[in-house]
Amino acid sequence: MAAKQPLWLDNAIFYEIYPQSFKDTNADGIGDFQGIIDKLDYIRELGCNALWINPCFKSPFGDAGYDVADYYTVAPRYGTNEDLKRLFAEAHRRDMHVLLDLVPGHTSVEHPWFKESMKAERNEYTDRYVWTDSVWEEPQGMGCLRGISPRDGSCAINFFSSQPALNYGFLNPTLPWQQPMDAPGPRATLEELKNIMRFWLSMGCDGFRVDMAGSLVKHDPEGLGTIRLWQEVRAFLDAEFPMAAMVSEWGEPDKSLQGGFHMDFLLHFGPSHYNDLFRCEEPFFSERGKGDVSAFVEKYLENYEKSQRKGLICIPSGNHDMDRLARSIHGDNLKLAFAFLLSMPGAPFIYYGDEIGMRYVENHVSVEGGYNRTGSRSPMQWDSTVNAGFSAAPKQKLYIRQDESADRPTAAAQMADENSLYHEIKRLIAIRQAHKALQSKGEIEFVYAQKDAYPLAYVRTSGDEKILVVINPSAREVAFNCAHAPKETLYRFGSEIIFAAGKLTVPPQTAAYFSL
Ligand code: NOJ
Ligand code: CA
Repeated sequence: MAAKQPLWLDNAIFYEIYPQSFKDTNADGIGDFQGIIDKLDYIRELGCNALWINPCFKSPFGDAGYDVADYYTVAPRYGTNEDLKRLFAEAHRRDMHVLLDLVPGHTSVEHPWFKESMKAERNEYTDRYVWTDSVWEEPQGMGCLRGISPRDGSCAINFFSSQPALNYGFLNPTLPWQQPMDAPGPRATLEELKNIMRFWLSMGCDGFRVDMAGSLVKHDPEGLGTIRLWQEVRAFLDAEFPMAAMVSEWGEPDKSLQGGFHMDFLLHFGPSHYNDLFRCEEPFFSERGKGDVSAFVEKYLENYEKSQRKGLICIPSGNHDMDRLARSIHGDNLKLAFAFLLSMPGAPFIYYGDEIGMRYVENHVSVEGGYNRTGSRSPMQWDSTVNAGFSAAPKQKLYIRQDESADRPTAAAQMADENSLYHEIKRLIAIRQAHKALQSKGEIEFVYAQKDAYPLAYVRTSGDEKILVVINPSAREVAFNCAHAPKETLYRFGSEIIFAAGKLTVPPQTAAYFSL
């Protein structure tokens, strides 16, 4: 018997909101929950039906909120818990769903648990984090904090030095300070994690995007312990919140899906070859036509097979960690990139502003631990009013300096122009939503993805429905032998694609979807 499932994921199209930079309604220069509520209709009109909101909890913001100081209270700068609850309700009223960002791996050094755990005297939080037994001993293979308190030990960190690692145990402990997963400390951490999830799910959130989901259990290279941990979480959700949706930042769907996640992310680091498509010297999505899609496809297929052809790996247009899509690709290539992103399996994720081609803002001093990521986190450009409609605060008070170029794209201008990127994306979303084969669970078979060659072609299938997708970003006409004869054209950007004598001839800078 299939358990209850969040079926809405099957046709979910996510919009990622970095709350700091989306819409400020009280003129303090920083985005807020009311701003998100005010813009839900905009997001819905584009066609997105789900949100992922970056961490919005109390935090000293050493890593933009990925350093939580209180999992149960939102950061006052965004509003109150009641405001967030209202956001959930307003989203639901529009038939939208909301994922919060769960950061289970580490807290901020400011978290009261960490302050307790730094004490020399044993207390309830002594084992909440991964500590060695002596300040002179470093945790193997991990960075650490040491010499910061009377406690005689070094504390492992997960990311920045302000992010101490919560203790979920070691798969196979070999040293006295390495606790097994079932020791009281790790068990208490996991129970607290469930409480946090309970709290927000009861308030109306629909699930979580989980930060660094694959690295909770330490010294666990195959992810065996971490998979077991998430299976336990899924069992708890199935019992109490069966409709809770879980999307992991893991990048290994064969592992994350076993752990009970519904979908995983394709990562822009590691072996995915995601950057070959959009963010390298010669991206595939470029009229220069010097890119190579084949390594990406090979890796994609490897993951697809390993996850029993579930392929529920979400490909984001960008996110708060990588360069804006429009930093490396421009013009029609952005439209062609979205013709790809919106026809692949797994739920698409559109990073706020990517729908209007917002640019990476160069030459920023790091804001809240952003470093090179800061340029991708600048405030949304809504219209031609002051601060592009983001905020009524004085310009120097804005969270991050905006793109100040005279021709910066805005949502208002793009909405008024039928030929804009915004409208192309809106059309593509509407087509995806009208065809199950194009949605999350439709199967994929690559038809043409050759080394150093164009176009890219694949068939998406659901039941009797088969759709051929052909995309040629290069500035030259290309052709390939195609066993599939296109029938109706469901979508076309660029000139007509000709099928004759078993051959598809694809004009420059073209994308099309055909029914088969
Ligand atoms: C991944 C998040 O996306 C990133 O922004 C953050 O800095 C790290 N995890 C650490 O939590
Ligand atoms: Ca504000």
